[in-house]
Amino acid sequence: MVTTGPTYEKIDPVRFIGNFSSGKMGFSIAENLAEEGAQVTLISGPSACQTNHPNINRIDVISAKEMYEASIEHFPNNDGAVMTAAVADFTPLNPVDSKVKRGKSNYTIELTPTQDIAASLGQIKTEKQFLVGFALETNDEEQNAQLKLKKKNLDLIVLNSLNDSGAGFQHDTNKVTIFTSEGRMKKFDLKPKSQVAKDIVDEIILNQNY
Ligand code: CTP
Repeated sequence: MVTTGPTYEKIDPVRFIGNFSSGKMGFSIAENLAEEGAQVTLISGPSACQTNHPNINRIDVISAKEMYEASIEHFPNNDGAVMTAAVADFTPLNPVDSKVKRGKSNYTIELTPTQDIAASLGQIKTEKQFLVGFALETNDEEQNAQLKLKKKNLDLIVLNSLNDSGAGFQHDTNKVTIFTSEGRMKKFDLKPKSQVAKDIVDEIILNQNY
């Protein structure tokens, strides 16, 4: 299973809180896994990416809540999950049913935390399932990535730093470092996202033991 894309959190019928994730990395990983012969469940937030690989079953969701529900439903039927989605960490507490009108005073939206999907899957995963997370960091990158690996009970975490030029959101290239739960670390060069996806899938195959 692969999660990808951003999530959109509704403010009113015409507005949302989103992020700049394109979904490219997750689509590329899903295609690489499918090429290896896997049957892939691809849970995607709003993304312009497309795929017509016969081994990929795409499930479209919009909000963090929908992505959480789809992930919890499908994870038990999969050998593992790769969590590439840029899930909103907060969502409006009280989305409004009609369009909010322009006003002269400040407007405040109260946000409430969303569920951590990766950590939830980390709690329910069986010994046979593997779980891969991503970490997008701006400071203390390696230390933060390793903390996330432990906290979310992941088997492998892919770190991409926003400090590396050409890496991260909206770029066609990415530069990653992979850490495993057994303490191994591998650094990769700046590459097109399709090749980064291949490196990640190769690492999953190397590290999984089912
Ligand atoms: N993730 C998730 N559900 C969330 C938030 C994050 O599944 N609600 C997953 C992401 O897909 C990624 C990993 O958790 O694989 C780490 O995401 P990241 O945004 O780096 O970490 P956060 O846990 O949100 O921590 P912070 O933003 O505070 O660094």
